[in-house]
Amino acid sequence: MSRTHPVQVIAVTGGKGGVGKTSVAINLSVSLAQLGRRVALLDADLGLANVDVLLGLTPKRTLEDVLNGRCDLLEVMITGPAGIRVIPSSSGTQRMAQLGPHENAGLIHAFSEISSQIDVLIVDTAAGISDSVVSFVRAAQEVLLVVCDEPSSITDAYALIKLLNRDYGMTRFRVLANQARTLQEGQALFNKLTQAADRFLDVTLQYVGAIPYDETMRKAIQRQKAVVEAAPRSKAALAFKALAEKVDRWPLASTPRGHLEFFVEQLVQADEAG
Ligand SMILES: Nc1ncnc2c1ncn2[C@@H]1O[C@H](COP(=O)(O)OP(=O)(O)OP(=O)(O)O)[C@@H](O)[C@H]1O
Ligand SMILES: [Mg+2]
Repeated sequence: MSRTHPVQVIAVTGGKGGVGKTSVAINLSVSLAQLGRRVALLDADLGLANVDVLLGLTPKRTLEDVLNGRCDLLEVMITGPAGIRVIPSSSGTQRMAQLGPHENAGLIHAFSEISSQIDVLIVDTAAGISDSVVSFVRAAQEVLLVVCDEPSSITDAYALIKLLNRDYGMTRFRVLANQARTLQEGQALFNKLTQAADRFLDVTLQYVGAIPYDETMRKAIQRQKAVVEAAPRSKAALAFKALAEKVDRWPLASTPRGHLEFFVEQLVQADEAG
């Protein structure tokens, strides 16, 4: 398999439901595309897939069709705002862990085909710490944990970090505060998480910043639009643009980890081990 074109793979996760993972995944994808990156957004919420719904897209085919060999990934990708390529899932798609060897080979092939066409792959994960979430997160180069100011958000994010660290040796995580009422609130949330992590785990958490609480987000969602497109000058949109500029400066792994094939090989290996 050729390993030529590096692709940054970023998993957006967080443990708790409803913190804004999908909103962050969508708006980060669109903002990166607006900076000129070629972005694919994989809806890895296999249970309650909804990236397409939130963007008003109507996919004819989904990742499931690729896994079943009914079509290839290029046929599944649909173009969203700013030219992002969305890879939709169908709600109720079987877990990655249930794929057979033939489907695994198909998946690797499918992703290697698109790797020359994209620079960044954003992976929107489901809530919780299921095997499926863990396998997508482990395979990514960068893990962006979305947290908000609710006690269960911090405890759920901590539980996810702990699992990924203790069981899978992962040590580096990025943290984004969402729905922050003030800038201080975001920083305080990060401090809380770091204090717990520093005490009990051997991990490095890096604070990426905060996305403010902004009613415009909900209004944009009602219109099935990304807020960065629907209201580009809103507080939330400006914060997403700043986030994308930061993310765009994250170094790209020069190891095999920096390649899309690695991401898929990891996914598949996680299944075989699991
Ligand atoms: N910064 C924000 N300001 C205001 N509302 C927000 C913000 N971020 C997200 N929301 C709202 O919170 C709700 C949940 O967001 P979203 O679906 O992105 O969360 P999620 O973490 O992906 O949820 P799930 O765990 O169900 O997948 C949505 O109605 C969204 O519009
Ligand atoms: Mg979601």
